[in-house]
Amino acid sequence: MSVGDVFYLTTPIYYVNDVPHLGHAYTTILADAMARWHRLRGDDVRSLTGTDEHGDKIAQSAVAAGVSAQQLADRNSAVFRETWQRLGLGHDDFIRTTEERHEKVVTAILHDLWEKGEIYLGKYGGWYCFGCERFYTEKEIVDGQCPDHRRPLQWIEEENYFFKMSKYQGWLIEYIDRHPDLIRPERYRNEILGFLRDPLQDLSISRPRTRLEWGIPLPFGDQYVTYVWFDALITYVSALGGPGAPAFEKYWPHVHHLIGKDILKPHAIYWPCMLKAAGIDVFSHLDVHGFWNIGGGKMSKSVGNVVEALALTEKYGNDAFRYFVMREMVFGLDADFSEEAFVARLNADLANDLGNLVSRATTLIVNAGGIARVPAAAELDPTETTIRDRFAQMVTRIDREMDEFAFQRALAAIWELIGLLNGYVDFARPWDLAKDPAARPRLERVLYVLAESLRFLGIVLMPFIPEAAAKIRGAVGATGTPRLAEAVWGGLGAGAPVTRLSGLFPRIEDKKGAAVERSAEAAGAASGVERIKKDEFARLDLRVAHVVSAEAVPKSKKLLRLTVSLGDHERTVVAGIAEHYAPADLVGTKVVIVANLEPARLMGIESQGMILAGSADGHLAVLRPDRDLPAGARVS
Ligand code: MSP
Repeated sequence: MSVGDVFYLTTPIYYVNDVPHLGHAYTTILADAMARWHRLRGDDVRSLTGTDEHGDKIAQSAVAAGVSAQQLADRNSAVFRETWQRLGLGHDDFIRTTEERHEKVVTAILHDLWEKGEIYLGKYGGWYCFGCERFYTEKEIVDGQCPDHRRPLQWIEEENYFFKMSKYQGWLIEYIDRHPDLIRPERYRNEILGFLRDPLQDLSISRPRTRLEWGIPLPFGDQYVTYVWFDALITYVSALGGPGAPAFEKYWPHVHHLIGKDILKPHAIYWPCMLKAAGIDVFSHLDVHGFWNIGGGKMSKSVGNVVEALALTEKYGNDAFRYFVMREMVFGLDADFSEEAFVARLNADLANDLGNLVSRATTLIVNAGGIARVPAAAELDPTETTIRDRFAQMVTRIDREMDEFAFQRALAAIWELIGLLNGYVDFARPWDLAKDPAARPRLERVLYVLAESLRFLGIVLMPFIPEAAAKIRGAVGATGTPRLAEAVWGGLGAGAPVTRLSGLFPRIEDKKGAAVERSAEAAGAASGVERIKKDEFARLDLRVAHVVSAEAVPKSKKLLRLTVSLGDHERTVVAGIAEHYAPADLVGTKVVIVANLEPARLMGIESQGMILAGSADGHLAVLRPDRDLPAGARVS
């Protein structure tokens, strides 16, 4: 991607029979972070969210609530809007399917398809789920029930209007084949191609008014309203004013649809066929994320804890919540949500790593009287040069990861730099330098590196934790809207006004006053363990290893099979880290292994070594060298 690109991003429009919960918030947070990232780059961004208000589900909920469907929609649509505002989530447009601007475009598209002979009146009998608002084929039905809701289906026979979707099957397969990054990540593309191996049915796009009044009337059949999915998908187009409108011409060629995996089929099958039939270009990308589970089971809307999970924003703040959901879930895969894991990350990554860095650095700078001078390039030592060079590398890396919606990898990259900076402070010991007048030039250099790094972090962290990032920028005197072009070394001048910033993310203590993370306890335990001699430790052959490939071990939840290179040879290592890392997180990175461990067989695979990783409170992190070292380098 190049700077100045046009970028149009949509979230699903959420059903108004429900209140916003963790799942909805996750998608909307990702969309907000992605839009912020593109704005930071200088792109021309437009983002859309909204509410899906027609159909059986809403009509039935309204009856149950004793209000009209319109009243229910008004009430709950407002709740979604307010929730996004409270969470600090922006959008350029919020569309409701009951708005006239939308109904007009749906009617025009229906009319056009009817005129073109893409729609016909036919008879249909099938098993229908009111929860999903769709018919199920015999193949999809599980034990006579809806595979999603696990409730009995109802046999419904009626005359309906059908969209000739089946005739697009061959075209769609070819289109997906020719556009490998249309549906991402790849697993969902494969899922759709797998589904398309069976014959595609025509799509019933109407509901008889005798059964359902709450929908957009069909322009060619007044006894019917439009099927809710046919109506809802068109919001992506109607929000731009419909085909031919100036906003449509500008943004539609650059549209990304961000969705959860539950609505893959309507987006990857119905929608491209509808667009093709209507003579509208197919969307550029469908970016599909996985599902949050709570307590191991599939997160269900009937379980109140999904709403409680979202309420944790009030307890711990919007930024911490955003950080957790983006860092914890590998985009495209499912993840478990728990308050414990949330607090562990908050304490480790935000309070310790980032918060301490900011607090230490700003305190040291303020105590030393501010930023005295800008050091010359020739003065920088190798670590400082590495830090400086990381700026440009980091921007390229975040850009690449964000291009693939790999939020977790973008954050991991930024935290590598934060780790490097913390190590730099520990090693440089500026508090000692401050005591020695002769070390003043070195102190000034160290403080400049730190201030400049905070300014850099304040820019690149903006899409992810916007409130904290603004505070960090403020602490080093950076004002105004940040731009990625400013995330280059050397932006700060001498005398930049630095102020102390502590408590950016207060550490969460449990009820007994002990930090929730087990560090204190672990330190105590560590002091009680048996001591060994240095030569005993030296018997371990620890080596830097380059991960060449990684894959899940079939039938195992925990194991990954890695091929690692030690420079002069490759070997297989089986590691119990599958619940914490996706294979893609590891490939291409360097890890540390115990190279002289006796081989062991795990799930029938011989493991020739062990990867070093640390863990606390069910949280696991693989150890990685914080500067580049060749594969095979000794670790001692
Ligand atoms: N109205 C349709 C979408 C129409 S789009 C043209 C719909 N609405 S929904 O309210 O049910 O929202 C579904 C979306 O909410 C998912 O695609 C996903 O974005 C989000 N999530 C709901 N539960 C979720 C999880 N448990 N985990 C992650 N996201 C989930 O479907």
